[in-house]
Amino acid sequence: MLIAQISDIHLVPNGELAYEAADTANALGKVVDHINGLSPAPDVVIVTGDIADGGRLDSYQVARELLAPLAMPVFMVPGNHDHKGRMAKVFFDHAYLRTHPDSPNGGFICYAIEDYAVRLIALDTVTPGDHGGGLCPRRLAWLDATLKEKPDVPTLIFMHHPPFPSAVGHMDLEPFKHREDLSKLIQHHPQVERITCGHIHRPISIRFGGSVATVCPGVGMQITMDLRPEAPSGFVLSPAGILVHCLNQSWGDPPVLLTHLNLVEDFPGQFGPFYPFFNVENPK
Ligand SMILES: [Fe+2]
Repeated sequence: MLIAQISDIHLVPNGELAYEAADTANALGKVVDHINGLSPAPDVVIVTGDIADGGRLDSYQVARELLAPLAMPVFMVPGNHDHKGRMAKVFFDHAYLRTHPDSPNGGFICYAIEDYAVRLIALDTVTPGDHGGGLCPRRLAWLDATLKEKPDVPTLIFMHHPPFPSAVGHMDLEPFKHREDLSKLIQHHPQVERITCGHIHRPISIRFGGSVATVCPGVGMQITMDLRPEAPSGFVLSPAGILVHCLNQSWGDPPVLLTHLNLVEDFPGQFGPFYPFFNVENPK
């Protein structure tokens, strides 16, 4: 079971540059090619939000065209730059994007995918108009009930906002709402192998709620590695990265979910040819 995760595409319509610098459509094209070239192929792709930079309808139409060549199913959650209604309109065949306030998830894009060896649970952390993220009692109750349904199935939770500060000062200005409640909840469900997020545009890992939480790099741009509290808000155009979560079983041990980071080539051949190891010595 292989799960490829991409995040923070920040698409703008064809020909435009995000923030007058980032060719995000070109970046997504490279990432899609990269995923389709992986062997073995991932079973599924998850997209952890900020698909469009400003939630425009034509940005989602570009996203739909650029994601279409992916050879495997795609599931997504919104980010703070997304417009949920326009996402649902363009990705009309993604039924989980159409929600109603009377449904058990309270009208948020929270859903579970049961088709794989790893159960995938999507959490919507977005309050429209807010940059920061969080949950609420309704979504926490939905998550608790959903996790109780299958306590023995390894589970990956994916969402846009990380429920922890990143140490990138300008990204930590809005604390994640109900993060302590989420942490306590996760501690009661040890089948949660991973909580994986986006939003920070950098690869991060941390202990959370007795499980492991990760953040996926961005597709459209990477946030500058600057951990000073006064670090200015900005980005660099270093290569995109993806996370590949793998349910692995080796050495006779129980299956466990592990996570690889793969950088995506910025230009063909950037990382050079393949060199095999030979005559390897392990000195005594
Ligand atoms: Fe983002």
